[in-house]
Amino acid sequence: MRTIGVLTSGGDSPGMNAALRAVVRKGLFENLRVMGIFRGFSGLVEGKVEELSAKYVGDIMQRGGSKLECARCEEFKKEEGQLKALDTIRNFEIEGLVIIGGDGSFRGALDLSRQGVSTIGIPGTIDNDIPLTDYSIGFDTVVNTVLDAINKLRDTASSHHRVVILEVMGRKSGWIALSAGLAGGADVILIPEVPLDVNKVCSILKRRNAQGKTHSLIILAEGVGHSFDLAKEVSADTGLETRVTILGHLQRGGTPSAFDRILASRLGAFAVDLLLKGESSKMAGIEANEIKSVALEEVLAKKKKIDLKLYELAEIFSK
Ligand code: ADP
Ligand code: F6P
Repeated sequence: MRTIGVLTSGGDSPGMNAALRAVVRKGLFENLRVMGIFRGFSGLVEGKVEELSAKYVGDIMQRGGSKLECARCEEFKKEEGQLKALDTIRNFEIEGLVIIGGDGSFRGALDLSRQGVSTIGIPGTIDNDIPLTDYSIGFDTVVNTVLDAINKLRDTASSHHRVVILEVMGRKSGWIALSAGLAGGADVILIPEVPLDVNKVCSILKRRNAQGKTHSLIILAEGVGHSFDLAKEVSADTGLETRVTILGHLQRGGTPSAFDRILASRLGAFAVDLLLKGESSKMAGIEANEIKSVALEEVLAKKKKIDLKLYELAEIFSK
């Protein structure tokens, strides 16, 4: 193998740049030519490709986002788009591709591998919803970002004796809400994996009020949704004043944590090793602190489970 390509796809996540740096520097160390593909699969469809140097990936490790930029490319999902992508891959003599993204991006990777291109996926999403890896790049950073918000919201919630509902990202997954909720001592954690029981939420808040606790913090995953409706129902039932904060896209930015940078560095280098060994349609992941490869097909056939033991712990602590 002489030339490999790398792209970042789907929603960006803090640490993608550290993964890009790792792929480029490890590739160059192994005497490979490394081509950067811009804006995810759109770069393949439109031929936006450039050879990357060690210097190109200097001074990016500490930055959120992706220097290669990210995109969601509908055209690539169709046969015509994929044929254009294959032309680009041939024109630039790319023999192996590292695709940093979420499960949608991995479906694209699998399609390309079925057309004879060696592909390795690296889990890069804040949602931590990728099976067969304990963590995806960006998750640790987003949990810390949400924690910072929890701390600030507690300040104002306590001054005003309010119930604050904080809605966080995660698509259909509750990993961000659960982890940040546990770490931040949230009084109620609402995740899509556990059915919502508004009466139970209200009785927890009433009990806290009766215990003399002046404020409460509810963290809610976007997969549960309806934050404003919940706020109305809660204040109607409990008589408590409520406020809603939807944290939004600030969760996707910011400097990656040390954990995410180290994870990205390990996975990036490992992905290059896998390509050099002739592997394809694999994901580089981490389980029990061990970097390993898993078949993309297996990853896409599974759904990542939430750790309900963490949920139960958080419930015990909030009593
Ligand atoms: P993520 O990778 O974060 O899950 P998306 O689901 O938006 O994000 O997918 C990112 C991109 O991957 C899409 O815009 C598209 O280009 C490609 N992709 C997604 N699903 C498929 C699919 N079923 N087949 C081929 N390509 C896909
Ligand atoms: O998958 C990452 C993510 O940030 C989700 O948590 C969120 O639902 C979605 O992407 C938002 O997508 P967009 O940036 O396209 O609004």
